[in-house]
Amino acid sequence: MEPYLAIFFLTPFFQSCCAWSVNNFLMTGPKAYLIYSSSVAAGAQSGIEECKFQFAWDRWNCPERALQLSSHGGLRSANRETAFVHAISSAGVMYTLTRNCSLGDFDNCGCDDSRNGQLGGQGWLWGGCSDNVGFGEAISKQFVDALETGQDARAAMNLHNNEAGRKAVKGTMKRTCKCHGVSGSCTTQTCWLQLPEFREVGTYLKERYHKALKVDLLQGAGNSAASRGAIAETFSSISKKELVHLEDSPDYCLENKTLGLLGTEGRECLKRGKALSKWEKRSCRRLCGDCGLAVEERRAEMVSSCNCKFHWCCAVRCEQCRKRVTKYFCVRKEKRERSGGGGASRKLKRKL
Ligand SMILES: *[C@@H]1O[C@H](CO)[C@@H](O)[C@H](O)[C@H]1NC(C)=O
Ligand SMILES: *[C@@H]1O[C@H](CO)[C@@H](O)[C@H](O)[C@H]1NC(C)=O
Repeated sequence: MEPYLAIFFLTPFFQSCCAWSVNNFLMTGPKAYLIYSSSVAAGAQSGIEECKFQFAWDRWNCPERALQLSSHGGLRSANRETAFVHAISSAGVMYTLTRNCSLGDFDNCGCDDSRNGQLGGQGWLWGGCSDNVGFGEAISKQFVDALETGQDARAAMNLHNNEAGRKAVKGTMKRTCKCHGVSGSCTTQTCWLQLPEFREVGTYLKERYHKALKVDLLQGAGNSAASRGAIAETFSSISKKELVHLEDSPDYCLENKTLGLLGTEGRECLKRGKALSKWEKRSCRRLCGDCGLAVEERRAEMVSSCNCKFHWCCAVRCEQCRKRVTKYFCVRKEKRERSGGGGASRKLKRKL
């Protein structure tokens, strides 16, 4: 098989909801792989969107700079966040390929019925159409793992986390069953495995991210056979489900141009209202307060259509409703004091 190249191009979309898009996935090489490239690109994209969702209220919020999976050029970080990006990307690619397969998008793949007819557990047999994760896994591996060309600890870490992402897709699959027997007595059942919502994979990987393991392999790690052996041995002793990192994360509160970090100044955070999770409720403290920033309250009026009525025939007329919204942002302390007194649309708060 010819080697092939796969390159992500991340292009900003102005004013779009999701800011970044993997809009190109170029490859040369075996024709067979061309069949999958649009699916792989769509999968990488959904991984990125999930990353942005999962980290929306974290200091590190999955910025575009972090989304460079390839190892060419630039400084490559090897921290917890890098681990998450790799896992969610390879999971996204595997997920999309699997879903494509189930939808009949590929000629060479269909349901996984390899276990059909076998006893699965007490009172149930494998049957029906299981999502073919084996297929998604294999193709995802070919594409995403090919981006790692090195043999150092960083490459080993990335490959491990790619694998953890794929394990997450497998591990969150759901068993669905159908009853059989006279008048639905359910004396026997047949069951198959289905993909969960991708959100579930993201949430699972976020939990793994919090528990990521740090391995100490960077010092004195040359490229000798001995050190390659040590790397392989270390990684083979860690469960494939775990996310692994080599470095500590930098301080995401602070702007650091060298590392391409923006810091949390100017970020929005959430306080009350809606049904906020504990994590979201603490976002102002995490993003502003604990980073030495103040919280600024900004009020704005939003105009939207409401009380729409249908008029015979055939028009819908709506009223314009005005709604006050309050948003919170992290601002530098001196800045906030200087602008004290504020404009009409801005009310400043004394304390967090
Ligand atoms: C696979 O699914 C994705 C997203 O649902 C879609 O964008 C892509 O075109 C599909 N690929 C094929 C080959 O049908
Ligand atoms: C940016 O991060 C690098 C690497 O951690 C560090 O050496 C440097 O001092 C940081 N720069 C600033 C301005 O914080």
